[in-house]
Amino acid sequence: MANGLTRPVSQSSAIMGVITSFFVVGGVQGLLLTTRAMCLLISRFWHITDVHYDNTYFTSQLSCNDDVPSPGPYGDYWCDSPWRLVQSTVDFMADKTRELGVDFVIWTGDTIAHIKNEDTSLDENLVVLHNVSAALEAGLPGIPVYASLGNHDFFPDGQAEANVSEIYQAVGDMWRDWISNQAQVQRFENGGFYATAVRNAPKLRLLALNTNLYYHVNKVTAEMADPAGQFQWMKGQLQEAKASGQKVIITGHVPAGLLVPGAVDWFHPRHKKSFVQILFDHSDVIAATHFGHDHHDGFKVLQKPDGSGAVSQFTAPSVTPWRYRIRRPSGDEVGNPHNPAVRLVEYDRDTGEHLDYHQYFINLTDTNTQNRANWAKLYSFKEAYAVPDMSVNSIKVIYDRVKDGEGKDYTDQFCRFSLVSALEKPCEDRVRGEIYCGGIHHDKTKVDNCVEDYLKRVNHATPATRSGLGFFVPVLITLSVLIGKCYF
Ligand SMILES: *[C@@H]1O[C@H](CO)[C@@H](O)[C@H](O)[C@H]1NC(C)=O
Ligand SMILES: *[C@@H]1O[C@H](CO)[C@@H](O)[C@H](O)[C@H]1NC(C)=O
Ligand SMILES: *[C@@H]1O[C@H](CO)[C@@H](O)[C@H](O)[C@H]1NC(C)=O
Repeated sequence: MANGLTRPVSQSSAIMGVITSFFVVGGVQGLLLTTRAMCLLISRFWHITDVHYDNTYFTSQLSCNDDVPSPGPYGDYWCDSPWRLVQSTVDFMADKTRELGVDFVIWTGDTIAHIKNEDTSLDENLVVLHNVSAALEAGLPGIPVYASLGNHDFFPDGQAEANVSEIYQAVGDMWRDWISNQAQVQRFENGGFYATAVRNAPKLRLLALNTNLYYHVNKVTAEMADPAGQFQWMKGQLQEAKASGQKVIITGHVPAGLLVPGAVDWFHPRHKKSFVQILFDHSDVIAATHFGHDHHDGFKVLQKPDGSGAVSQFTAPSVTPWRYRIRRPSGDEVGNPHNPAVRLVEYDRDTGEHLDYHQYFINLTDTNTQNRANWAKLYSFKEAYAVPDMSVNSIKVIYDRVKDGEGKDYTDQFCRFSLVSALEKPCEDRVRGEIYCGGIHHDKTKVDNCVEDYLKRVNHATPATRSGLGFFVPVLITLSVLIGKCYF
C-alpha cells in the first residue's frame, strides 16, 4: 500500500487506492479490536490444594512416614510441607501473577498436616489455617481466594459438621473479605459452603462446596440424606445461575469421581448418587469442577451411562510431597513419591469455558540439593493431550483414544503427571485400564468391570497403531501458538 502512493498513478486508481486502504485498514483494525477483545476475555486463575503444612517437620516430624534423619530445607517425600515450601509456592504464585495477571485463586483445602488427633487441636488447626491464609493474602494482595476446607482441617480429622460449628465460624471470619458477601459468610458459618461472584467475570458464579460432608470417614453425616442441606442449596444456586444467564464453576476438597490409578471411592454411596445426579441435571450451566484430596493430578468426565449430563472433573496435584503409608500386619502399603505442584488455569471470563491449564512444579530432589526452588512448567493440558481446550468433549476425545490400549503416549503421560514426574516408570496395563475406566465411569463396580474388559481387549488385540497423533499435533500446536500469542 505505502509503495503505491510514491508511484505516479492516475486519479481514478488513486481514489480506488484510498477506498481500498480504507477497507484494508478498517479490516485490520477490526481484526485487532476483535483479537484484543478476545484477549481481554481470556484470563487466569490459580488452583492450589493440599498444602498440609507441618510445623514439626524439623523437630518431631509428626507427619513423616519414615525416618528422615537429615530433612531437606524444602521438604521430604516422606513428610508434609515445611514452611519454606509453603512460602516458596506462594512467592512463585505472586511472581507469576505480577507477570500475567490473575483474576482469583481457588484453594481446595487440607492445610493441616497428616497428624494424629492426639497431637493437634481445633485451636492449633486454626492457627495453621490463619497463617497460610495470611501468606496468600500478603503474596496476592487484592486477589480473592475462594477457599474450602479439607477433611484434615477438621478436628477431629474428617468430622465435618452439618450445622453451625466453631470451625465454620472461626474460618468464616478469617475468610470474610474473600467471601465478600455477608449473607454468604453466614451461609459458610452454617455448613462450610458458600457461593460467590467471580472477580472480573460477572457472568460466572462459583460454588465453594463442603464435600467433606460426604466423605466416607465422616461419622457425623453418614446417616443424613442431605447434610447441612447442601444438595438443596446447590440445586437452588444452579437454577438461579441458569435463570440469570450465568455459568458456574464448582470447587471443593473431596471429589466424587474415583482416584486413579487404583479406583478409590471417597464418598458415602448415597451421597455420591445424589451429588452426581445434581451435576447431571445441571450440566448445561456447569463450566467445570475442581477438587483436591487425591494429591494426584487427574481429570475425567462424570456422566450418565448413556454419556449425557456430562461434567468435567479436574483434580490438581498437592503442594505436599508426602507419601502415605498404611500399616498392615501383612506388610505396609506405601504411596509413590510426588513433587510439589500448583496449577494455573486459563478460562474465558465471558463464557466460563476452560481453555487450558499449566501445571507448575519443583523437582524436590534438585531443590533441596541446590537449596533453591526452581519452579518450572511440567506441562500444559492442551499441548500434552493434543486437544483444543479443557471441555467435556476434549476429555471424551482423550479417553476415546486410549480405550483399546492404543494412545499409549497419553496414558504414559497421565501416569507421569499423576505423580508430578517424581517417578519415571511406565504404566502397567492394569493402570492404563484404570485411567481409561476411571476417566469415564464414576461407579466403582463399573470401573472394576471395565478394567477387566479392558485387559481382555488389550491382551487379545494385535499391536496397536498410534492414534491420529500425526495429524492432530501439528494442527493443534499451530492453533495454540496462535491463541497463545494473546497471553504469553
Ligand atoms: C503462625 O504465625 C505466627 C506469626 O508469624 C508465628 O509466631 C507462629 O509460630 C506461626 N504458627 C505456626 C504453626 O507456624
Ligand atoms: C442446627 O442447629 C440449630 C441450633 O443449634 C438447631 O436448631 C437445628 O435443628 C440444627 N439443624 C440440624 C439440621 O441439625
Ligand atoms: C529431578 O532431579 C533428579 C536429580 O537431579 C533427576 O534425576 C530427575 O530426573 C529430576 N526429575 C524431573 C522430573 O525433572
